[in-house]
Parts: sequence; C-alpha cells; structure tokens
Amino acid sequence: MDRFEDDGSESGPFLEVDNLSTGFPTPRGVAQAVDGVSFKLERGRTLGVVGESGSGKTVLSRSVMNLLPKYAIKSGSVRFRGREISSLSDRDMRAVWGTEMAMVFQDPMTSLNPVKRVGVQITESLNYHLNQKGKDADETALALLRSVRIPEAQRRLREYPHQLSGGMRQRVSIAISLACGPRLLIADEPTTALDVTVQAQILDLLQAQQRDRFMAMMLITHDLGVVAGRTDDIAVMYAGRVVEKAPTKILYRNMKMPYTEALIRSIPKV
Ligand SMILES: Nc1ncnc2c1ncn2[C@@H]1O[C@H](COP(=O)(O)OP(=O)(O)OP(=O)(O)O)[C@@H](O)[C@H]1O
Ligand SMILES: [Mg+2]
Repeated sequence: MDRFEDDGSESGPFLEVDNLSTGFPTPRGVAQAVDGVSFKLERGRTLGVVGESGSGKTVLSRSVMNLLPKYAIKSGSVRFRGREISSLSDRDMRAVWGTEMAMVFQDPMTSLNPVKRVGVQITESLNYHLNQKGKDADETALALLRSVRIPEAQRRLREYPHQLSGGMRQRVSIAISLACGPRLLIADEPTTALDVTVQAQILDLLQAQQRDRFMAMMLITHDLGVVAGRTDDIAVMYAGRVVEKAPTKILYRNMKMPYTEALIRSIPKV
C-alpha cells in the first residue's frame, strides 16, 4: 500500500472507530478486552482515554493500530483517512506504522534498543520509512533531538539509552515516534514510569509537538489529572467499554458516572 496522498480530497472523519471489539481466547471462553467501542477523532484534535487498570486502554490502542497478537479475536471497523485498515495485513500496515500512525509507550527502555546508539535508532527508522540516508538522515536525527529539547543533542546521538535519564529516554522515544511525521500519535501511559516533575515536562512536550505538527493524538492514562488540561475530549473506559465521552471541559463539570467521579477523586493532590 502506498503512503496516502495528502491531496485534500479525503472525505469523512480522520479516524473513525466503529463498534470495535477485541477478545482473547481463554479456557473458559473469550475474554472481551474491548467491547463495542466507537469514537471519531479529527486531525489536530486530542482524545484522552482514561480508565482503571485492565479496563482495555492498551488493547484499544493496539486494536486501532492493528498491532495485536495473531490469536486476538477482533471485530468492528477502524477507518483511517477514509480507508478501512482493520483488516490489513502486517505487510500492508508497514506502510502505515511510523509514517501514518505512531505510538509512544509507557517504558522507553522497552521501546528503545539497549545495544544501539540513539542516533542510529533514529536514522534507521528514517532510512526504512523515508529512504533518507547518510548525511541527510544524520541532520534530521539531530533536528529531531533538538525539537524534543534534548540538551547537547549532537553528543547524545552517539550515546546508548542506558546513558540517558528516564526523562531523556522518553524524549528520545518520542523523537523516534515523530521521525517519520505521523498524522496520528497514540501515547499509552507515556509518563507513568517517570517522576512527577518530569511527567509534566514530557506531557508539555507531547502537547507542543501535537500542535506544531497538527497531529491527532490519543493520550491514554489511568489518571484523569493528566488529561485534564491537555485534551479536547475524554473517553472514560470501564470493562472494555466507553462508559462516558464528552468534551474535556464538560466532563469535569458534569459527570454522569459515579465511576468517573471516583477516577477524579483518585487524582493525587500534589
Ligand atoms: N495479549 C493478551 N492476551 C490475553 N489477554 C490480554 C492480552 N492483553 C491484554 N489482555 C487482557 O485484556 C484486558 C485489558 O487489558 P489492557 O492492557 O488493555 O488494560 P489497560 O486499561 O491498558 O490497563 P493498565 O492501566 O494496567 O495499562 C485485561 O484483562 C488483560 O488481562
Ligand atoms: Mg495499559
């Protein structure tokens, strides 16, 4: 599949998820991790997805990305820029991953390769997806590290992940996610592994990048405090379902579900 052309002729929503369900086989039948989820997301907009541990946030984001284990049982539709992608093969998805949709994971130590220098990890991706090589790729990598505000970027390019702090590592993995200019960024608990002061910096960075690049973003967290000032809309998940969805401002003013109130009460007061 070719990279989608941005010719302005797309019709319909940027991302439209309809009645998406994902289950996993167990000896006692199928465990439904995502259960009939529907939502729309436009370009340049941000959706917060909140819910307690095990409510299906990660499985939802992986279902949207078409990044599930083979044994997962999936139904429903994911339309991205006017095309149904939920039935595409891994081979076809490779034209989408990285360049169209990218993910930032909770723990940068698992998404970064520990035995490769930071610079190489970025240039490999540029090479693979955009066919950028040599000096061009080196320059792009440096610009990317600067854009995620890594001090002494030139020197950092030659370092290994373990030589960086946790916050710096997450900045690097964000740089890698942004390398090929995705239009949709899914950040799954991007700050949970970091301490509180660094959390805010990384969230600010994601927000700034989302705005500068006019990306759509799904920001996934179990913490309503994280998405409060940083998303346009919030979907609250419980047991695989979206139980409440509203523009962020309205959700905080007028919660329908006691579950959502409980999530808000659980925000630690710093
Ligand atoms: N690969 C898998 N195989 C089988 N079951 C899975 C798999 N991945 C997730 N599940 C199950 O799906 C349900 C939803 O899990 P998920 O990881 O989406 O929750 P979550 O909301 O992201 O939780 P957390 O906040 O802890 O990250 C859980 O019951 C989980 O055990
Ligand atoms: Mg999760």
